[in-house]
Amino acid sequence: MTEKQRDSFRSNLGVILALVGSAIGLGNLWRFPYLVGTNGGAAFIIIYLLCIVFLCMPIMICEFVIGRRSQANTFGAFKKLAPGTAWKHTGTLAVITCVILLSFYVVVGGWTIDYFIKSVRMVFTSTTDFSAEFNKMVSSPTENVFFTVLFLLCTAGVIVAGVRNGIEKTNKYLMSALAVLIVFIMVYAMTLPGAKQGLNFLFKPDFSKVTFRTVLSALGQGFLSLSIGCGAIITYASYANRKDNLLKTTTVTTLSDTMFALIAGMAILPAVFSAGMNPSEGAGLAFISLPYIFEGMSFGRVLSIFFYFILFAAALSSSISLMETVVAFLKEEYRKSRFMAMLIMLGVTTVFAVFCALSFGVLSGFKILGFTFFDFFDYISSNICLATCALLVCLFAGWKIRKEDFYDEITSGGRYKIPKWLLGTLRVFIRYIAPVIVAIIIVNSLIGL
Ligand code: TRP
Repeated sequence: MTEKQRDSFRSNLGVILALVGSAIGLGNLWRFPYLVGTNGGAAFIIIYLLCIVFLCMPIMICEFVIGRRSQANTFGAFKKLAPGTAWKHTGTLAVITCVILLSFYVVVGGWTIDYFIKSVRMVFTSTTDFSAEFNKMVSSPTENVFFTVLFLLCTAGVIVAGVRNGIEKTNKYLMSALAVLIVFIMVYAMTLPGAKQGLNFLFKPDFSKVTFRTVLSALGQGFLSLSIGCGAIITYASYANRKDNLLKTTTVTTLSDTMFALIAGMAILPAVFSAGMNPSEGAGLAFISLPYIFEGMSFGRVLSIFFYFILFAAALSSSISLMETVVAFLKEEYRKSRFMAMLIMLGVTTVFAVFCALSFGVLSGFKILGFTFFDFFDYISSNICLATCALLVCLFAGWKIRKEDFYDEITSGGRYKIPKWLLGTLRVFIRYIAPVIVAIIIVNSLIGL
């Protein structure tokens, strides 16, 4: 396939919004505030920021370089840049990771639609038992499977409309709506009686809670949140123009994702505290504590509609990036049409996703290494596959791509002159420091299995 025939984004803003859309997701909205809460507040944030700047961003740059230089899907990229070697199987691993990740991600995506509809229909009242309500939803085979499949169909609908008309447009609208609504909720949350306590919790460092595990979870969260390690960035970068400046694109993406996580924390934690609840609820925070809190708040019903819309939009823009990575692979490597590729991906993911959805109910007794389907998919993708792919990407960019090509890709486009010392430092990180640290993480996660 020649470069002319390949899909591409219309503008640099399109690339940035797509990357931001992929990055901002369920990871930011409930996982981040909860991790901050259980890992020592601001102490965790400081470690997280260090991980983002020194490890996640360099790896993100590597993915970007690989994607844009090759102008190919995540498998084709390695094949093109290192022909005749086994490196292409980094792409195979990336594609498998996408399928696994998407399969459980869409289940939670389905819950967001379900709760959004329930908020609009005002199903909840002040006497609702939210914990029972949540358990009823996830264990119901019909309800949980229906919304999972509905969410998958929404994702597939965007994918089939194409890169410019589907992905670029959808991200533009969803991200704009998301930014406005989350700031609105945050400002409202600041007026609540628990605001000060929530902010203290978020920004007061407590280094006594920091352990080796904290560092591990900060890094894992960095990968998950920035969508590193499954070829999504390689795929989006391959639709980017050589005139776009790579450092600018990755910096804006990282900043937006991190800001969004912090703002989400500032929106959610004050509300949790003003209701006298505990923020370390994990999965339950968004679907059990928050609906209860909304019920007791003035304007709570409107806020609840906004909140589930935000969750839905964030989850959708992320799942789009996961599906597109596999669709681009099928399209280019097996010469399928976009529609056919989407159908194949839809079929495969539906099967796995239905298993994940049912693992809360009828299949709850079925365990792999002691995990239910959903938890197993979550664990191996977030803790093992993403990091393994990230490690391979790092080694590939550091040792396999020629230094001149690597620098050329980073410095092309834009008006900025990038200092030599920065390029040199980046390369040292990519060649030596990042691989060692990521390898330690992988070993630790394998031990945890
Ligand atoms: N970044 C998303 C979140 O924060 C999840 C996600 C979407 C992802 N696409 C990805 C993670 C690709 C890793 C790789 O929820």
